[in-house]
Amino acid sequence: MNIAAQPPVQADQTVYLKDYQKPSFLVESINLDIQVYDDKTIVDSTLVMKRQTAGDLVLLGRDLELQSIQLNGQDITPAQYSLDSEQLVITDAPDEVILQTQVIIHPETNTQLEGLYKADELFVTQNEPEGFRKITFYPDRPDVLSVFTTRVEADKKYPVLLANGNLLETGEVGENRHFAIWQDPTKKPSYLFACVIGDLAVLKDRYTTSEGRDVALEIYAIEKDIPKCHIAMEALKHSMRWDEEHYGRAYDLDNYMIVAVSQFNMGAMENKGLNIFNTSCVLADEEYTTDAAIMRVQSVIAHEYFHNWTGNRITCRDWFQLCLKEGLTVFRDQSFSEDLQSAAVQRIDDVAVLKSHQFPEDAGPLSHPPRPDHFVEINNFYTATVYEKGAEINRMMSTLLGKEKYRKGTDEYFRRHDGQAVTVEDWVAALSAGSGVDLSAFLTWYNQPGTPKLEAKGEYDAAMQTYRLSFKQSLKAHPKYPNLKAVPIPVALALFNAKTGEQYTLHSDSLFVNDVKDGVYLFDQDEATIEFTDVTEQPVVSLLRNFSAPVNLVFDYTDAELAFLIQHETNGFNQWQATQTLLERILLEDHSADAYIQAIQSTLPELVGRDPLLASRLFDVPSEGYLGSRIDQNYAPADIHVKREALLNRLAQELGSFWKDTYLTLDPDLQKEFSLAMGVRALKNIMLMMMARQGDQTAFELAHVQYQNTGNMSERLGALRVLVWQNAPQAQEALADFYDRFKDEALSLDQWFMIQAANPNATTETIEYLTQHPDYDLTTPNRIRAVSGGLSNNPENTWGFGVAHFINLAEYLDEKNPILGSRLLQVLSRWYTLAEPQRTQVQQALQALQPKVKSKNVSETLNSMLSV
Ligand code: TRP
Ligand code: ZN
Repeated sequence: MNIAAQPPVQADQTVYLKDYQKPSFLVESINLDIQVYDDKTIVDSTLVMKRQTAGDLVLLGRDLELQSIQLNGQDITPAQYSLDSEQLVITDAPDEVILQTQVIIHPETNTQLEGLYKADELFVTQNEPEGFRKITFYPDRPDVLSVFTTRVEADKKYPVLLANGNLLETGEVGENRHFAIWQDPTKKPSYLFACVIGDLAVLKDRYTTSEGRDVALEIYAIEKDIPKCHIAMEALKHSMRWDEEHYGRAYDLDNYMIVAVSQFNMGAMENKGLNIFNTSCVLADEEYTTDAAIMRVQSVIAHEYFHNWTGNRITCRDWFQLCLKEGLTVFRDQSFSEDLQSAAVQRIDDVAVLKSHQFPEDAGPLSHPPRPDHFVEINNFYTATVYEKGAEINRMMSTLLGKEKYRKGTDEYFRRHDGQAVTVEDWVAALSAGSGVDLSAFLTWYNQPGTPKLEAKGEYDAAMQTYRLSFKQSLKAHPKYPNLKAVPIPVALALFNAKTGEQYTLHSDSLFVNDVKDGVYLFDQDEATIEFTDVTEQPVVSLLRNFSAPVNLVFDYTDAELAFLIQHETNGFNQWQATQTLLERILLEDHSADAYIQAIQSTLPELVGRDPLLASRLFDVPSEGYLGSRIDQNYAPADIHVKREALLNRLAQELGSFWKDTYLTLDPDLQKEFSLAMGVRALKNIMLMMMARQGDQTAFELAHVQYQNTGNMSERLGALRVLVWQNAPQAQEALADFYDRFKDEALSLDQWFMIQAANPNATTETIEYLTQHPDYDLTTPNRIRAVSGGLSNNPENTWGFGVAHFINLAEYLDEKNPILGSRLLQVLSRWYTLAEPQRTQVQQALQALQPKVKSKNVSETLNSMLSV
């Protein structure tokens, strides 16, 4: 029997938060039997269900070949149900239902990397958010929690058979096949189901939790990658300890497995007890991956581990609540990473991502609240706004509460909601109740789009020795969200004596937190003024320390005051922020660069010795992409490129022999800690690039020596970048050498593609060469992202020959991998800010794509992009 589905009902496909309804049936248990063959997979499932409310029994299913279906032991009759390409609906179902179905699916031809799919020789699942419905018929929504028992059967050429939970039984089926039965004792939604079938090696370790549970830790990867799994294993144990110490959360199963997959749409997935990771987020090794990648591995390991409590034990009621688990888990992984390297540098890196990705997203046609109230395709909402702005909201609340009260609040959240599927309101209510501080005003942050503008003014009264600070907040009007309200903005601040550079003790009754020299003012009105007394000399105020709120600050500093903050601010983050504000003025408002260069000259040489990692960040010059995102109309990418190059060249010249002298004294091998060595390597690469900009030919020789003599990828790649981007005579030889060394190491080879695509001098021929290369692979998102991500490093190229690249890719991926297609298309979302004639050219190219795309993913994104 092969039961044909009816054609889909085409209606408005928008889903609204206000339409949320409880599921009519709950699933008490599910038994899955997954039999993998070369040309098909057979999935049998038995669901034990109980009615909860009136209504039809709705089972979601997509691309399933339904073979049979039985309700309470009887073949179901056509009159009892209806089936279309999205769902199977049973009308008049009894209150207790045992439903058995058999379906056939095709992981071997599944290119979308969602549901069960085959990546190289490995079968893996990706079910968040709505992939499980591509495996079997099920109420595939996060508020249906069930106990999963899974039997996996496959040919013995696939020795590893994994699923969530505990291994109950293994055995053979005839000569060539075998099976394993797993049971997950904790109830979970279907998006957290996972299974893995393949031939993998494993790295094993153990961990004893604070509650005395002995947990087996296993990281699965192909044999040759096992040596690259040790950093992840250490990070996993560290995360487990960290969550016990900082949130009182211990792990709850006897095993924790991680599987590395080379074809994966995102970073990693927190399936219960069986995380699946993009190789780029689990494999780490100084020889093959960069320092930045090593830091990322540690933070993603922590992120997925932390989801065990924030996401899995307590999950989301519906997908509108995605930021409940993601925003909180990102905040948790950021806090973890602050303990790994310097807290200031981690904050700099996180804010840099926020400002270069989330701010532009929130200022353009794809803007949405951290908790959206409608969507067409939920996959389109795994955004910087949901993740990063979501994290910022949690950070703001924790800043106000301080350590102790925040902990009381999170304890209350876990106490109230363990085992439940909840909402953002539930989280804020629990945090308020536990801490004793009413945080309900923060709900506005979750529900509104846009980055608030925070305008501040300072006024010093020398006679009264008072300093008055006035604040004003505003939001740009948004067509879909008409009633925008003021939000609570924690403003962390400090005052410095302009003469001595010393920090004042703060005297003011308006502060929410006053730790003598550090204060936090909670600004929650449209406008307000506060006053400080006993300010004996003209002060310089430092605002939003540590970036205490995700807002656009406008304060009329003089350039001299910003230069003062670069030199005297004791908060490393705000020191960096001062450099960035000053640089934005130089590059976007044509201010003189003199004050900046003097401040750098007088600050950095000393800092290089004391804190190399922070020093490396203080040399940051905002990227062309970021600068472009600050321009709302008549944006000419070529002009920005010219200005930025000129500034960098001037900086290179003005610091004279500093670059080379410093380069020659720096030695990462003398550093005791990884984070310090990482800082020294970052500095060395900056110095090399600056020497090359000075036109010093010895720079290329030093780069070439560094390239050849190192065993460290950050050093090798930094040197290669200088050679390639600065057109050194040694460039082609070094590229060929790199290819030979790393052609069998996918992650390293990604860097080879990336560095060439990101070359400012890249042309349409460069991209053609790379995309025609035998190692280019349209089935591997990492490889596509290496080229496309590299290309998008240079706005001038992106908005020139890059437009065709992105549009063609979106059209191709629309069918093959719409999740990725939609993401890559977003690179062009700020087309409407371009100066003519580019603006119209890109608009026409986007319009021409519109009738060609079919997926909800790409079409929703494209329609929004064109709706400005
Ligand atoms: N929940 C995952 C995380 O943030 C991310 C995720 C969502 C994902 N959808 C995905 C990962 C699709 C891979 C593919 O940790
Ligand atoms: Zn996550």
